[in-house]
Amino acid sequence: MNSQLPQLFKENILQGTTIVQKQTYLKDLKGFFYHEAERELLLQNQLVYEVDAYFPVSAGTEGGLFFGVTRLQPGMVGNEYFMTRGHFHAIANRAEYYWTIEGHGQLILMNHEREICIEEMQPGSLHYIPGHMAHRVANTGNSLLSFGACWPADAGYDYTTIESEGFSARLCKVNGLPVLLTDEQQAL
Ligand code: F6R
Ligand code: MN
Repeated sequence: MNSQLPQLFKENILQGTTIVQKQTYLKDLKGFFYHEAERELLLQNQLVYEVDAYFPVSAGTEGGLFFGVTRLQPGMVGNEYFMTRGHFHAIANRAEYYWTIEGHGQLILMNHEREICIEEMQPGSLHYIPGHMAHRVANTGNSLLSFGACWPADAGYDYTTIESEGFSARLCKVNGLPVLLTDEQQAL
């Protein structure tokens, strides 16, 4: 059996020869924010978040685990915080751990009945995301929000449900504080 070189998670950065990086810019988030017109006015090449991930086995391997670090920039589109796309897992019952490395935010969780809740993210907070829960993170602070994730290698991503239906509420800044608002409440 060949031994593998260990990856490094050092000074909050995932390092190693096999780390895969993915960046998401404002131009990639068309239609995700309530104030789409405001998103269009912003710099399209502005980085919103990037993910460094370690995939020690092929995607789809039953029993395998993936590890990733997401760095979500601070920022707003209208009254809405910069956030990740959010997704259910393709194998919907697959769970995941998130934990906060630095910064402040909210983890937004929504089940298939579109019931929604939030969990506060702060350095050291550990979040168990049960299966059948769409998950998205919003950066509610003024600095970088960085969080780790560990999920099953066969979980996959269902982005299309959120792309077409959205979450049932959005995390908005109201009187300086993060509040979940439905689109109906925003329209008032
Ligand atoms: C993996 C996972 C995270 C996210 C990352 C970016 O299952 O939940 O690694 O993929 O935080 O968010 P999305 O994928 O929603 O763009
Ligand atoms: Mn996930």
